[in-house]
Amino acid sequence: MAKRVGILTGGGDCPGLNAVIRAVVRASDVAGWDCLGVLEGWRGLVDGLFRDLGPVQVSEILQRGGTIIGTSRTNPYKIEGGVEKLLQNARECELDALIAIGGEDTLGVAARLYREHGFPVVGVPKTIDNDLSGTDYTFGFDTAVNTATEAIDRLRSPAESRHRVMVVEVMGRHAGWIALMSGIAGGADLVLIPEQKMTVEAVCEDLRRGHARGRTFSMVVVSEGYELSHESGESQLVGQNAPTTDQFGHVLLGGVGEELGREIERRTGFEARVVVLGFIQRGGTPTPRDRILATRFGLKAAELAHNGVFGQMVALRGDDIAVVSLDEATAELKTVTPEWYAVAQAFFG
Ligand code: F6P
Repeated sequence: MAKRVGILTGGGDCPGLNAVIRAVVRASDVAGWDCLGVLEGWRGLVDGLFRDLGPVQVSEILQRGGTIIGTSRTNPYKIEGGVEKLLQNARECELDALIAIGGEDTLGVAARLYREHGFPVVGVPKTIDNDLSGTDYTFGFDTAVNTATEAIDRLRSPAESRHRVMVVEVMGRHAGWIALMSGIAGGADLVLIPEQKMTVEAVCEDLRRGHARGRTFSMVVVSEGYELSHESGESQLVGQNAPTTDQFGHVLLGGVGEELGREIERRTGFEARVVVLGFIQRGGTPTPRDRILATRFGLKAAELAHNGVFGQMVALRGDDIAVVSLDEATAELKTVTPEWYAVAQAFFG
């Protein structure tokens, strides 16, 4: 009987997931392995939701955003008997390996399952946030940065024509990579990220200085995880109210742009407008770079699974595909370094 590898996508959807699925299925087909799609992330393994995947099911998906097998933020460790059900379903489906494609949460579960149960899992790093350690880049990030940069480019003319401060809020959770890169590429006058404290007073002072020097409008890129802080020491992470946290304990961020825009208008007298890019950054077709990275990750993950190399995550190191342990990859978030921030900072004021 042919051996069988499961494929699962967990967490936020992101452009390039389908490219990984296609690569795993095509490589497995050549190697004589069957593929089983686990639907809706870890929930599918807990509840027994599966779909056979072969070359026919994965044709014409390379360029499609989202994931053909669905995703969720289910944490089996937060469901009573969840892990036992998951292990039982994996046994019943006769899975010889599982390829889990996800970010810190999905891969955190994979790392724990491998550590505690010797579960035969290989990880593939995805997230538009690019906040996973162990890999230089995750796929999905390039697409998100492209989308955000294009938005910033487009927003320049309405800002310039009406002499406004345009505040563009981007995603990224607790890492400011999307804001940083789109801010550099889009020529932002200020980039505000969670890793670098900049008070509202300092933001306004910077804008005033720029306008005093002759600038008639400003582009401000703010990451959703930037804490709105004041000289008084008071600071606030702006989130959406309900539900307060997901199964991994994350608050749903979003809304800091509005608050910041209001503060800027009130303190400087400059008219401000706010645009929240939201899910536009996660949707749509992946860039060629993301398709290629996702494809290379998928081929390498399939190779590891077929060779019985588990508890590992595929990664990008320089221009090479590497392998790192899931434990190392999920130990801490990869956040923006001061050196990287300095590139954006050189154009402030
Ligand atoms: O992790 C990817 C991401 O898009 C974050 O940037 C954002 O904070 C979060 O997911 C939104 O999560 P959800 O899709 O569950 O609303």
